[in-house]
Amino acid sequence: MEKIVILTGAGISAESGLGTFRDEGRLWSQHRIEDVATPEGFARDPALVQGFYNARRIQAANAQPNPAHQALTRLQRNWPGDVVIVTQNVDSLHEAGGAKNVLHMHGTLAGALCAACDHRWVAPPEMSVGESCPACAAPSARPDVVWFGEMPYHMETIYDHLSEAAIFASIGTSGQVYPAAAFVHEAANAGARTVELNLEPSDGASSFETVILGPASETVPRWVDDLLGQQ
Ligand code: APR
Repeated sequence: MEKIVILTGAGISAESGLGTFRDEGRLWSQHRIEDVATPEGFARDPALVQGFYNARRIQAANAQPNPAHQALTRLQRNWPGDVVIVTQNVDSLHEAGGAKNVLHMHGTLAGALCAACDHRWVAPPEMSVGESCPACAAPSARPDVVWFGEMPYHMETIYDHLSEAAIFASIGTSGQVYPAAAFVHEAANAGARTVELNLEPSDGASSFETVILGPASETVPRWVDDLLGQQ
């Protein structure tokens, strides 16, 4: 049965009130990536970085999934084949909307990681500087998010899914950050039909067979209805 692989980005959570990165006045216009999303930035000013992620963790915990998240869950529940959701997002709105087995390639705000022993645990709402690891007691707790220059998670599994995809959809991402921005080529090379659903054409729009423009809360439910109606 046909496998669907879906990549999501900050745009799918925008209508839940969570900021995107590169839209006008958004996260990367308020903070320099090198200051808050790199290991060097964390080493230089851990208080700034913990504060940046604490604010996002609290905002994400208070956000609700929107009709786009809910539509992808409906697709997972009703499509006869596998529906794999790979997200660049560190919020948990896919899971809050009922999605299963979501692959968070950039980690999650809900997770904490020990920089000394790699132990992972559920992050408290606010992490503090020098917080100790519950496993090795080193004062090296950090958010379990993947920073620039670090290897994204689940890459082998993701490439396996892309090689088996009959349909690849990219939703709410600007197509500016690799390796996610190249997933469409992997999927197309494997023979998948490719579709982008975005507020505006992404940097990679020309690589997709179909581009559907508009807010995800409108375009994704309609796309899912079309897919399920085709069965
Ligand atoms: N519906 C659909 N798409 C939207 C909406 C919406 N309501 N609002 C914004 N978008 C689109 C924008 O047009 C843009 O193309 O979502 C995209 C968001 O792009 P970015 O802000 O660059 O976010 P993203 O692509 O997820 O960034 C990828 O970069 O900084 C790193 O780790 C960070 O995971 C992030 C990665």
